[in-house]
Amino acid sequence: MPVQLKGRSLLTLKDFTAQEILFLLDLSRDLKRKKRAGIPGDLLRGKNIVLIFEKTSTRTRCAFETACWDEGGNVTFLSNSQMGKKESLEDTARVLGRFYDGIEFRGFEQKTAEDLARFSGVPVWNGLTDLYHPTQALADLMTLRENTVKPLQECKLAFVGDARNNVANSLLIICAKLGLRFTAVCPDQLRPDPKLVSEMVETARLSGGRIDITSSLEGVRDADAVYTDVWVSMGEEAQFENRIRLLRDYAVTQEVMEKTGNPRAIFLHCLPAFHDLNTEVGKQVYEKYGLSEMEVSDEVFRSPQSKVFDQAENRLHTIKAVMVAAIGRL
Ligand code: CP
Ligand code: NVA
Repeated sequence: MPVQLKGRSLLTLKDFTAQEILFLLDLSRDLKRKKRAGIPGDLLRGKNIVLIFEKTSTRTRCAFETACWDEGGNVTFLSNSQMGKKESLEDTARVLGRFYDGIEFRGFEQKTAEDLARFSGVPVWNGLTDLYHPTQALADLMTLRENTVKPLQECKLAFVGDARNNVANSLLIICAKLGLRFTAVCPDQLRPDPKLVSEMVETARLSGGRIDITSSLEGVRDADAVYTDVWVSMGEEAQFENRIRLLRDYAVTQEVMEKTGNPRAIFLHCLPAFHDLNTEVGKQVYEKYGLSEMEVSDEVFRSPQSKVFDQAENRLHTIKAVMVAAIGRL
């Protein structure tokens, strides 16, 4: 049966089949080639999208905006709206649904993204919530696919660090769907939510994938991709001290990359990353805790194994694919 994603929201990826995810990855690859070839697009011509950000962003905002412009669509970045302050979420969603063909939402509660979809009547794309970051996971798997000769089902992705965060959750889901081996390498206190794990273990059983959780860095063995993210996600700043204590032994260093035993293993990070002292937060952490790098060493970040900037670019192509599939002229 041909894949049909018209009108679909992307809230968690849980409701997408492997076939639908692979369709989006193929479309992302085609759209990347099209852009590289300088072919102008009009797949979103006449479409209007609105972006709502409760949390800060560089890549996600810019990816939605440039993706929309590349394909002839129009975009509004909505700041200072009445939503939730002088107007209920429901009423705002109903209004936005009259103006726009799609809504991107980045914020705290997953329920906000779900309610926007429920009340607006147009597709809603989750640009990151406390629980999930599904557009990121698409770009991550696209990047892995570009850097391996193996089928994805034979690949292993090891996530090292805060394995209960939004990025880890979405990677767990996409790997389980596509039949990869996903290993969370994390301290016991930062293991993924057991409910999500048991749901995805069942998904992985059907796809031929596998989920492992270990506190030992040996868990990266045989990985095709070693992935990490910040130790403290947006909105969790009060946890800084505790996270540094829990995660300082989980930094991805060259030694960790070598533990994979796979010289072709790539390093991935959703970014932004703390790999040097060129950020305000990085400097504060150095002054307080004496760490000059956090989740990844500068050496690994800048190494040939690191594909983080390809991964960042792929946010554009995958987000474009998600919008084109849901509201575009395919
Ligand atoms: N990876 C990611 O979502 O980046 P931004 O926070 O810059 O959007
Ligand atoms: N886990 C991070 C991802 C940033 C793209 C956060 O939520 O801050």
